[in-house]
Amino acid sequence: MTTVAERPAQHLGFGRMHRKEDARFIRGKGTYVDDVRLPGMLHGAILRSPYAHARIVSIDTSAAQAHPKVKAVITGETLAGLNLAWMPTLSHDVQAVLATDKVRFQGQEVAFVVAEDRYAARDALELIEVEYEPLPAVVDARRALDPDAPVIRDDLEGKTDNHIFDWEAGDRARTDEVFASAEVVVAQDMLYPRVHPAPLETCGAVADFDKVTGKLTVWTTTQAPHAHRTVYALVAGLPEHKIRIISPDIGGGFGGKVGIYPGYVLAVVGSIVTGKPVKWVEDRSENLMSTAFARDYHMHGEIAATRDGKILAVRVKVLADHGAFNGTAQPSKYPAGFFHIFTGSYDLQAAHCQVTGVYTNKAPGGVAYACSFRVTEAVYLIERMVDLLAAELGMDPAELRMRNLLRPEQFPYTTPTGWEYDSGDYPRALRLAMDIAGYERLRAEQARPRDDGLLTGIGISFFTEGVGAGPRRHMDILGLGMADGAELRVHPTGKAVLRISVQTQGQGHETTFAQIVAHELGIPAEDVEVVHGDTDQTPFGLGTYGSRSTPVSGAATAMVARKVRERAKIVAAAALEVAPDDLEWEHGRWQVAGDPDRGKTIAELALLAHSNLELPEGVEGHLDATCVYNPPNLTYPFGAYICVVEVDPGTGVVKVRRFIAVDDCGVRINPMIVEGQIHGGLADGVGMALMQVMAFDQDGNHLGASFMDYLLPTALECPSWELGETVTPSPHHPIGAKGVGESATVGSPAAVVNAVIDALRPYGVRHVDMPLTPANVWSAIHGRPLRTDLAIP
Ligand code: CDP
Repeated sequence: MTTVAERPAQHLGFGRMHRKEDARFIRGKGTYVDDVRLPGMLHGAILRSPYAHARIVSIDTSAAQAHPKVKAVITGETLAGLNLAWMPTLSHDVQAVLATDKVRFQGQEVAFVVAEDRYAARDALELIEVEYEPLPAVVDARRALDPDAPVIRDDLEGKTDNHIFDWEAGDRARTDEVFASAEVVVAQDMLYPRVHPAPLETCGAVADFDKVTGKLTVWTTTQAPHAHRTVYALVAGLPEHKIRIISPDIGGGFGGKVGIYPGYVLAVVGSIVTGKPVKWVEDRSENLMSTAFARDYHMHGEIAATRDGKILAVRVKVLADHGAFNGTAQPSKYPAGFFHIFTGSYDLQAAHCQVTGVYTNKAPGGVAYACSFRVTEAVYLIERMVDLLAAELGMDPAELRMRNLLRPEQFPYTTPTGWEYDSGDYPRALRLAMDIAGYERLRAEQARPRDDGLLTGIGISFFTEGVGAGPRRHMDILGLGMADGAELRVHPTGKAVLRISVQTQGQGHETTFAQIVAHELGIPAEDVEVVHGDTDQTPFGLGTYGSRSTPVSGAATAMVARKVRERAKIVAAAALEVAPDDLEWEHGRWQVAGDPDRGKTIAELALLAHSNLELPEGVEGHLDATCVYNPPNLTYPFGAYICVVEVDPGTGVVKVRRFIAVDDCGVRINPMIVEGQIHGGLADGVGMALMQVMAFDQDGNHLGASFMDYLLPTALECPSWELGETVTPSPHHPIGAKGVGESATVGSPAAVVNAVIDALRPYGVRHVDMPLTPANVWSAIHGRPLRTDLAIP
């Protein structure tokens, strides 16, 4: 007999529910790209440049071609013959698939070997002779526009410098005016260093071109399968319906798997050339060296205020290092992403930013690593500036924030740079974080000298993110508008299949999207299968990044479920022999108003919809529906974070003792998944604040191409997170949800840095750039460098 405890629980809507996908993941039954094995499959490996900048004099592949297991050696010249040597980037630039003229960053793709196995392919790389003529490299973005700087992109016609773009937002004149009459102005240079998403699974692809049907199937690590299919069609000239992109289980994307990497294209070319399926999977060093980085923003911030602490305006200048090709994935209109949300959570009179993008001899990128298109940089900037202002005014940073946070009655609120924040109660979130932290008590404790000589620091950050791109009239990538589709089929027995265009990389979409259907239709989430990540099986949409899944595809899911509900209503009316207007939706079923005993569930109606029930003229059978959701606005999640650190002034070592995170992402579909997202993001933020930087030497050699040098945070660096929540629904989202996937990564670095700087107050330290490694903290305390290596962040 099955006891109640053994019976599987059924989830009829929102709430805690174990992830459906965990059943396969915890048993090691996930299918990642590297698990795909096809009959006759060959393996590819990439020869990469050892130089950051060098002219290619010659490439001799004869010895590699002669290797008994090698099937093909492809160079830039081979690709040039196919018109495939260059591919478009997501930012309207071009990137070399394989270098033809020059290499422009260390690790750039130079040749591709296809062999019978992965080992032979790698062995054969060593048989390729490349003669390079080294050129001076541009490594420091601040030198990229010097008149004598070597021109990196001489492939672009007429290009005589390393300038990519200038972009601005806000009202410059008005901002200057406010600054001119302000009582207090604080300025600071700061760098958000180059960091890397470093997902557990590196990038890869298995390409299978069927010469008979002309169909190309690519299993690949992508967060945006539909966008990839369109780009492949445009680049390779293949008909789009003959391309199938399958994004199977993905071991983390974090924005790094949005773009198309040369390796993907090479796997496709390898398959076309050899007539066999070709697998290419990069190793960890390749991933760190050549796939997209994030941040690398040199920022000059200024904040204007009254002496009694009313913030008036913010002014920012940014120098953005985009690497050798402009491969950043931002909506077309916004080359600096959503950086102009830098006015943060405060009520300002004016703001202005100017961003200049430059080429350097580093890998391309600037991706939205757990970030909605440069929101992370924006939040870091404003939250550091507010703390600097508090120090200047001698005010408590919590008090300064409380004084300036937007008030609930100001929503919807239009910022001086043009965003329309949907909803929020910011003071409530900050007060809750302070209560959980015991803020006043902590400050009193901090004021007492400690016997152990350690310094206590308390740091706050408050963030507002804009997540859920579109609307499509404002936001597109390569002309593809940012809207998402959803299709919902209800089988005769009431089980459902939801097809969505976003692609989970570990966020639990198979669970939460089923919960949305359950919430809307009363079908248990266990009975809803979520299909994603296969362009042949799902509707078009722009993919998962910038926490857009819930705001866009989640909304599409609710809307398509509502369409099904409306179809079911007609069936219910016919079955119950009443007019549709006499029905009401209650407790997951259509019932006769005033006669709740007469009603039908969706499962019952699904069966009737497939039966011989007489339906009104013009009404089709079945309940299935499709929809495309074009969001009217972004959603604006927010949060208040408090970090408590201990700093050892003798060693510079920082220990995060406590971290309090109050997040508001509107209605929570699955609080357990939300908390998991926040835990992960907080760990990420601690890593960025304290440990991570992709550094280069003066010749452009990469100094962080392994996890020995590029440090990932572990449980040892993380405290036991203390979470709180407020719920301010988004007024325009059908279920009131806002995104949350990246909030904690966006909000947390500033809290950690603010805490460390707070601890260093006795030493008069104003600012230290991330990462706050022991060496950097020690140097700040002692006013001299601890190390004199050549690293340039
Ligand atoms: O686009 P991405 O999935 O990375 O971010 P998201 O839309 O913020 O969602 C991350 C995960 O949290 C998904 O499984 C969401 O459905 C879930 N979530 C939730 O349960 N409630 C919210 N209010 C927001 C997200």
